[in-house]
Amino acid sequence: MQTQINQYIAEINAFSPANADELEAFRIRFLGTKGIIKELFEQFKSVSPEEKRTYGKVLNEFKQLTEAKYAELKEATDSGLKTEDSGLDLTLPGDGFAVGSRHPLSLIRNEIIDIFKRLGFVVAEGPEIEDDWHNFSALNFPEEHPARDMQDTFFIKKNHGKDDIALRTHTSSVQVRMMENGKPPFRAIMPGRVYRNEAISARAHCFFHQVEGLYIDENVSFSDLKQTLYHFVQELYGEGTKVRFRPSYFPFTEPSAEMDISCTICKGSGCNMCKYTGWVEILGCGMVDPNVLENCGIDSAKFTGFAFGMGIERIANLKYVIKDLRLFSENDVRFLKQFQSDII
Ligand code: DAH
Repeated sequence: MQTQINQYIAEINAFSPANADELEAFRIRFLGTKGIIKELFEQFKSVSPEEKRTYGKVLNEFKQLTEAKYAELKEATDSGLKTEDSGLDLTLPGDGFAVGSRHPLSLIRNEIIDIFKRLGFVVAEGPEIEDDWHNFSALNFPEEHPARDMQDTFFIKKNHGKDDIALRTHTSSVQVRMMENGKPPFRAIMPGRVYRNEAISARAHCFFHQVEGLYIDENVSFSDLKQTLYHFVQELYGEGTKVRFRPSYFPFTEPSAEMDISCTICKGSGCNMCKYTGWVEILGCGMVDPNVLENCGIDSAKFTGFAFGMGIERIANLKYVIKDLRLFSENDVRFLKQFQSDII
């Protein structure tokens, strides 16, 4: 009887069910009403009285061991740990959470906003669907004037036979809304998305982002414009970045200029980014044309001001060297997660 029990114990210790059915077969074999343990207790009745004490103990221990083993395996099987057919392995390590990151254009926009906020500029916004007045006429683009062709426009609605409603081509339209609805002085920057009717390529897109700036007060001069933009460039690209202004033309500013900075990639020695000139253009600017002030109900004899506008993609490009504009709108996480920041 002892040898027999020892064999059973070895069998039980080695037992590892692959599924719940195997465990149930185990239970029936050892613990069932016609099972091994029941039978051993039957045999025990005919054991001699001297042997009863030893075998009684052995048998009871064997029964306890079997029951404990069964209870342990049952719990594991019920919680799915050992069931192959559930397809679930709770011992596998969990998936980590993927933490998102700010879009590079948002990072740059926030950086630009922060710099101008420190100079006392507020943030203003306007609609992306604009009428002709706010996008063109008020900004001193006469009707039928070729200056309108500078910006290929998505017109979306006609009024009295004329193209009237369009997707805004620049954030300069927000200047008009701001001046119409308030009283000077104004000191604001206006970030937003703009649209142009262009074929999508590595270097052009049908939508992109701009930040517009406007400063109107008494006695604002071109030197205020220069100093403000100079400070902005030092803050954004680091001290020692050079600036230069070239005369240009915009209908809404007089005089108008374009501002270049010393190439941020090669520091002015010449590279692909600056086409070996050492300079890259980053924005348009100028003194607000008196006609624009008058169109918006502001006394141009009393007030003067400057304005500027820049493309955020361009600024980001000079910071991160992104050769293909399309990457900004494709939402490829492999691209996006390269731009981590502390600013949430
Ligand atoms: N609106 C111009 C553009 O989209 C950029 C610009 C140039 C804005 C000069 C200004 C400015 O406010 O003064 O190309």
